[in-house]
Amino acid sequence: MAVLFQSLVTRLLTLIIFCFVPTLEQSDNYIIHMDLSFMPKAFSDHHSWYLATVSSLAQSPNPNVSARADATPTSSKLIYSYTHVIQGFSASLSPSELEALKNYPGYISSIKDLPVKVDTTHSTQFLGLNPNFGAWPTSDYGKDVIVGLVDTGVWPESPSFNDDGMTAIPSKWRGECEVGTQFNASMCNKKLIGAQFFNKALLAKNPNLTLSMNSTRDTEGHGTHTSTTAAGNYVKGASFFGYAPGTATGVAPRSQVAMYKALWDEGAYSADIMAAIDKAIIDGVDVLSLSLGIDGVPLYADPIAIATYAAMEKGIFVSTSAGNEGPFLESLHNGTPWVITVAAGEMDRAFGGTITLGSGVSIAGLTLFPGDPSLGESPIVFADACNNTSKLSKISHKNIVVCEDKSDNISDQINNVQGAKVAGGVFITNNSDLEFYLQNSFPAIILNPTDGETIKAYIKNSSEPTATILFRKTLIGRKPAPSVTSYSSRGPSPSCPAVLKPDILAPGSLILAGWPQNNPVGVVNSLKLFSNFNLLSGTSMSCPHIAGVAALLRGAHPEWSPAAIRSAMMTTSYSMDSTHAPIKDIGNDYEPASPLAIGAGHIDPNKALDPGLIYDATPQDYINLMCAMNYTSKQIRTVTKSSSYNCSDSSLDLNYPSFIAFFNPNSSGSPTVQEFLRTVTNVGDGSSTYVAKVTPMEGFKIDVVPDKLTFKEKYEKLTYKLTIEGPKQKNETLVFGSLSWMDDGGKHLVKSPIVATSLSSEALASRT
Ligand SMILES: *[C@@H]1O[C@H](CO)[C@@H](O)[C@H](O)[C@H]1NC(C)=O
Ligand SMILES: *[C@@H]1O[C@H](CO)[C@@H](O)[C@H](O)[C@H]1NC(C)=O
Ligand SMILES: *[C@@H]1O[C@H](CO)[C@@H](O)[C@H](O)[C@H]1NC(C)=O
Ligand SMILES: *[C@@H]1O[C@H](CO)[C@@H](O)[C@H](O)[C@H]1NC(C)=O
Ligand SMILES: *[C@@H]1O[C@H](CO)[C@@H](O)[C@H](O)[C@H]1NC(C)=O
Ligand SMILES: *[C@@H]1O[C@H](CO)[C@@H](O)[C@H](O)[C@H]1NC(C)=O
Ligand SMILES: *[C@@H]1O[C@H](CO)[C@@H](O)[C@H](O)[C@H]1NC(C)=O
Ligand SMILES: *[C@@H]1O[C@H](CO)[C@@H](O)[C@H](O)[C@H]1NC(C)=O
Ligand SMILES: *[C@@H]1O[C@H](CO)[C@@H](O)[C@H](O)[C@H]1NC(C)=O
Ligand SMILES: *[C@@H]1O[C@H](CO)[C@@H](O)[C@H](O)[C@H]1NC(C)=O
Ligand SMILES: *[C@@H]1O[C@H](CO)[C@@H](O)[C@H](O)[C@H]1NC(C)=O
Ligand SMILES: *[C@@H]1O[C@H](CO)[C@@H](O)[C@H](O)[C@H]1NC(C)=O
Repeated sequence: MAVLFQSLVTRLLTLIIFCFVPTLEQSDNYIIHMDLSFMPKAFSDHHSWYLATVSSLAQSPNPNVSARADATPTSSKLIYSYTHVIQGFSASLSPSELEALKNYPGYISSIKDLPVKVDTTHSTQFLGLNPNFGAWPTSDYGKDVIVGLVDTGVWPESPSFNDDGMTAIPSKWRGECEVGTQFNASMCNKKLIGAQFFNKALLAKNPNLTLSMNSTRDTEGHGTHTSTTAAGNYVKGASFFGYAPGTATGVAPRSQVAMYKALWDEGAYSADIMAAIDKAIIDGVDVLSLSLGIDGVPLYADPIAIATYAAMEKGIFVSTSAGNEGPFLESLHNGTPWVITVAAGEMDRAFGGTITLGSGVSIAGLTLFPGDPSLGESPIVFADACNNTSKLSKISHKNIVVCEDKSDNISDQINNVQGAKVAGGVFITNNSDLEFYLQNSFPAIILNPTDGETIKAYIKNSSEPTATILFRKTLIGRKPAPSVTSYSSRGPSPSCPAVLKPDILAPGSLILAGWPQNNPVGVVNSLKLFSNFNLLSGTSMSCPHIAGVAALLRGAHPEWSPAAIRSAMMTTSYSMDSTHAPIKDIGNDYEPASPLAIGAGHIDPNKALDPGLIYDATPQDYINLMCAMNYTSKQIRTVTKSSSYNCSDSSLDLNYPSFIAFFNPNSSGSPTVQEFLRTVTNVGDGSSTYVAKVTPMEGFKIDVVPDKLTFKEKYEKLTYKLTIEGPKQKNETLVFGSLSWMDDGGKHLVKSPIVATSLSSEALASRT
């Protein structure tokens, strides 16, 4: 070892002397990919090799460098050494140290650590889950399946983490309940089986930082919400101040939860997230839920994509959020071919109240006011657009003020009325995308223009108009449902345009789930309100729904690969709403939602149990895809971690349950015919015959050969070719349809979305 060190130091010495070293170099955190086959035999394991490598960088005789190195103990430059997610480590390095490292034997590549974006109970019923048939009883409610989450931590006292009815912790579990600030090992139980935290990269980046909570305890709320959405236990009598009342439950109520806290109030870095995923793989989780992502990076530079590749190789299903940057096209993150990418939808539930006029007429409206359940009889006045604050300030505080919105945005009106400190507000608007305006700190209710006319006429006609408001109404059965939210990020995927993303739609708006007791959920009359449950909206909320469904499917079909589980969810999802019309896109004027907004469609867990056919994919299939994306050898090895790989079957045509074809009008010689070769595996029982059916796509000719697939036995694989022939498309064209395989018994319908677009895949890829 001593000899080896000598040679390293000599080598680095040479290098450092050749580069100019500025006096006060700013260090930064890097994730370094190494080739383990270069590890000298003298090292007992990869950890010691990485540590020696980093230490040797700091032992340079250059006085300026060593002086700085003396100030920081050398070992502290190494942040994490990773085991599964990458072959390599993260470290805090100066530019010259990084340059030196690049000439080190075994060095492959490095990326600067990136800050990560966090994407912010009726849903189980809405998903059709029930005790009598389907995914719940078949999977034993997700028993013995471990759902890991990388998030802001957990509030272990949340009633959703009670372990009533939970069976013993699965013997495969290798994780722990880590002791930290306000967190001890007895806070885990048979429901919350793991609680670990990762902040070394955050602290390396900000050495003087004081953490508000140096433990897995959740001070933000996001992680408590996502983890209890995926796998919270039953809690009777749950509600948010009387809204959404009932028994709260996660999607997989008998699965275990393991929390890996890597998102901190003080910041979130990918090196910490990679360490969390590394540990989750070691610990033996079955499903990972990641309500976070990084925008604008190619797969080989996206730490989440790299780490989840290792998880996929180990058979772990990974659910990720598409992001909240909609409704613009090309806005999603996690467009990674080996994970599922989840969009956010609205359910058939609405929260509201009733306003009763002095005339006796009652009108229903929308509200989530958490304060007093009612507002007693009060004078009511009409204040037009409520945009004249001096006029509003002259209104008596005893009044309810009615505002009429002409700009489809009531944000300013709400602020103005709140500032006027009146008794209550009524907001008339034609906008129905209101989830972020329902919860106010004063009694407020939102009405549509028709009901608004009734109230205006009453006020005009009456000498002393009055009204009362009752809050805390929950309406189930609102139509149409589901629909895709405006904020849900859209495809195509900038990091991998050849694969249609997002994959699937799941409930994301106003989801009731667990919440830290001491973190206020609202303010009324300057008083903070607290609750064990909170209603949140975002793709962060839809992602753990899919993780929960994956836990059920893993419980029912332990032999299925992550790609098989994803395929089952996608091909059995539905694209019609409760009015038998196509699911609508709130972000696109309620037009039919395209697969770039909802993927294959809305999740149907009970159908996903029995998909008939699946589109499977192996790690080699993803390698073939990266080969065809013209990734360099280094880039591919950064993702795969293996020193050799085989590009002889290079192809952009991944065996995926959806299709996207680019017909770019601006690129010369762009193809007008595109072919896709797909292989389906029969996971139904015994023999069956499937017939293809395609929906027409205007201007395109779609062909399927053969159009009939006859399976003789279970697990048999058959291949078909889909051809899309199209004209050179006009700018901004997006045409979509679907291919369905229907079996002879009519029992299985295996449906895949098809998109043909004039968006340029080259332009997309160049944005990463
Ligand atoms: C070290 O820092 C001093 C003072 O800034 C500078 O003059 C000198 O050139 C530096 N030495 C090296 C080897 O970079
Ligand atoms: C956080 O806790 C860990 C272990 O519990 C400890 O090693 C570390 O020094 C603490 N960090 C800070 C910034 O308090
Ligand atoms: C853990 O903390 C709880 C609450 O503070 C306390 O009641 C319990 O005794 C602690 N357990 C251990 C093993 O320290
Ligand atoms: C951290 O604190 C030390 C001592 O208070 C100070 O000298 C140093 O400049 C601080 N560093 C940063 C990055 O703020
Ligand atoms: C208030 O809104 C009305 C109607 O939109 C508009 O005509 C008026 O100019 C606005 N007044 C102010 C003070 O913004
Ligand atoms: C706002 O209302 C006041 C009366 O309170 C009036 O004097 C003023 O002209 C109004 N401003 C506008 C821009 O309409
Ligand atoms: C509504 O107006 C507020 C404040 O003017 C603005 O911040 C917000 O982005 C607007 N929302 C939409 C959907 O236009
Ligand atoms: C409300 O929106 C609908 C549909 O977009 C439209 O037909 C109607 O005219 C609008 N009404 C008002 C009062 O703006
Ligand atoms: C107006 O008031 C009169 C008398 O109170 C009543 O008969 C009539 O129905 C009212 N009209 C409306 C539109 O409320
Ligand atoms: C990869 O390179 C080949 C040959 O230059 C080219 O034809 C192809 O379009 C490239 N593929 C992608 C995805 O850029
Ligand atoms: C690469 O894969 C092809 C086809 O799968 C196979 O024929 C070939 O032997 C492989 N090459 C190596 C070096 O493994
Ligand atoms: C397509 O749109 C882009 C930008 O909107 C424009 O620069 C280009 O000329 C358009 N091409 C065609 C063929 O219309």
